Amino acid sequence: SDLYAVFGNPVAHSKSPQIHAAFAAQLGERVRYEAREAETDGFEAAWQRFVGEGGRGANVTLPFKQQAATLADRLSERAALAAAVNTLIPGDGELLGDNTDGVGLLHDLQRLGAPLAGARIAVLGAGGAVRGVLGPLLAVAPQRLVIANRTAAKAHELAALFKAHGAIEGGGFEALGEGFDLVINATSASLAGELPPLPERLIAEEGVAYDMMYGAEPTVFMQWADARGARCHDGLGMLVGQAAESWFQWRGSRPDPEPVLARLRAELW
Ligand code: ATR
Repeated sequence: SDLYAVFGNPVAHSKSPQIHAAFAAQLGERVRYEAREAETDGFEAAWQRFVGEGGRGANVTLPFKQQAATLADRLSERAALAAAVNTLIPGDGELLGDNTDGVGLLHDLQRLGAPLAGARIAVLGAGGAVRGVLGPLLAVAPQRLVIANRTAAKAHELAALFKAHGAIEGGGFEALGEGFDLVINATSASLAGELPPLPERLIAEEGVAYDMMYGAEPTVFMQWADARGARCHDGLGMLVGQAAESWFQWRGSRPDPEPVLARLRAELW
């Protein structure tokens, strides 16, 4: 069977082995997918060992996404834009670094019927997770895309970096405005059970709220949005979506994320 892995530290909690095992079963392909913990300063050595064992490709998670970008001989356009690699693809004498996070989010938003083309979209946060999804979000041609962050300067910087790719603005939460069709939370505030200071009418009537985080309970952001009438979703579908896109890049076949997501969801609750 073909060998793949996810590298991280820590990595034991990763759901990727389970997701890819489900893809393999669904498609009837013989694949072995392992979680491998690398030392913080030992990512390259762990990768070389893995290749020596016949490894065909890998996912990379925290804290190795930048190191993976350095290790790769070439970056896909979306990985270069994201300045991070979550998927390594060994090819003809060169190692390609790709980033499937943004496409994973996009596919999940499409699956959910979220407003995209022509929509007013707000993204909360300006960290690595946001940088990875701005390219694919701008590619759907929203009417406007606003990045809001606690540290406004970081939102301004990201907006400047992506302005060649579409209509994008950055600022602090106080400058957000209101009436967005889609609001995506990518702050790590959720993890701490905190909520950024958001305008009461941030989300338009019948708008969609999406949190990149997920858990057994709706996040505080989802609860806040639900109380204001929004349709709410967490980021579990994005996780399965990025996995499906990585699988496609390695193997050329397309898993159906829906049943895999349903099973993960059932286990989470
Ligand atoms: P990630 O890779 O998940 O994006 P990150 O790069 O550490 O992680 O970014 C974390 C994001 O969450 C940042 O946008 C951060 O805001 P600052 O840039 O101002 O630090 C945001 N964040 C974290 N805790 C927050 C909180 N309590 N309220 C609002 N924003 C928060």
